[in-house]
Amino acid sequence: MLSTAVKAARRAASIINRASLDTDSLTIKHKQHNDFVTEVDRAAEAAIIETLLDAYPNHAILAEESGQQGDSEFQWIIDPLDGTTNFLHGFPQYCISIALVHKGQLDQGVVYDPTRNDLFTASRGQGAYLNERRIRVSKRIKLAETLIGTGFPFRDFTHLDAYMAMLRDMVQKTAGVRRPGSAALDLAYVAAGRLDGFWEIGLSKWDIAAGCLLVKEAGGLVGDFQGDDSYIDSGNIVAGNPKVFAQLLQALAPHITPELKD
Ligand code: IPD
Ligand code: CA
Ligand code: CA
Repeated sequence: MLSTAVKAARRAASIINRASLDTDSLTIKHKQHNDFVTEVDRAAEAAIIETLLDAYPNHAILAEESGQQGDSEFQWIIDPLDGTTNFLHGFPQYCISIALVHKGQLDQGVVYDPTRNDLFTASRGQGAYLNERRIRVSKRIKLAETLIGTGFPFRDFTHLDAYMAMLRDMVQKTAGVRRPGSAALDLAYVAAGRLDGFWEIGLSKWDIAAGCLLVKEAGGLVGDFQGDDSYIDSGNIVAGNPKVFAQLLQALAPHITPELKD
C-alpha cells in the first residue's frame, strides 16, 4: 500500500512540476493564477485517486478538492498540493501528502517534496524514512536551542490574537521560528529533525494525516494544545521530539483560550 501511495505521489509531482515551469506568467495574471492552480490541484488529485483506486477499487477517499467517496475500513486522506500559496509564487516549499487510515488508525504516510525530490514515508510500527534512509526526531532538549515551525492564520482570523501572543512568546523562548508555508512538510521536517517542533491552529485532516504518522514513527509526539488526541479533528496541533513537545505545551498554555481547548 505504501508503494502505491508513492507511485500516486510521483504522478502528482510530475503534473505539479510541469505546471511550476509557468509560474512567471501565472504571477502576472493573478486571477487566472488561482484558476490555474485549481486546475493543477485537481489534476494532481485526480491522478492520485486514479492510481489508488486502480490498485484498491474498494477503498474510500477523503481528498481536499473532491471530498469524500466510498465507504470502507480503509480510507486514503489526500492533499494533492500542500503549500498552494508558495507554489503560486514559485517559492519552492510545497508537497503532496497522502495517508492511509485503517479502522481509524493511521497506517501509511507519504509526504513528497517535488522541488527537492525529498520523499518522506512511514508505515505504522516500521519507522519513518527520507529517501529510504531512516529518520528520527531531533535530540535537542532545551527550548532555547530549538528551531520551531509554525503556520500563521491567513484565512480565518478568529484566533489571531491568541496566535500572536503564542508567537510573541515563542520568538523569545526559542532559537528561531519559521513559517515555511506547507504544514505537511513542516511535520515531515519535525520527523527528520530539521525542525525540533511545530504548532498551528485549525489545520485540516489532509494537511496533517501523513505528517503525524511520520512524526510518531520518527519517535516524536503529536497532540492538541492539551497534549491529547483530538488534533486530527480540531486541527489544533503541537508536535515535536518528546522533550520539546512537553515544553511547547507548557509555553503555549497561557494563550490557550477555551475555544482552543477542544
Ligand atoms: C495550507 C498549508 C499552510 C497552512 C495552511 C494550509 P494548502 O495548505 O499547509 O502551511 O498554514 O493552514 O491550509 O491550502 O496550501 O493546501
Ligand atoms: Ca493543505
Ligand atoms: Ca492543498
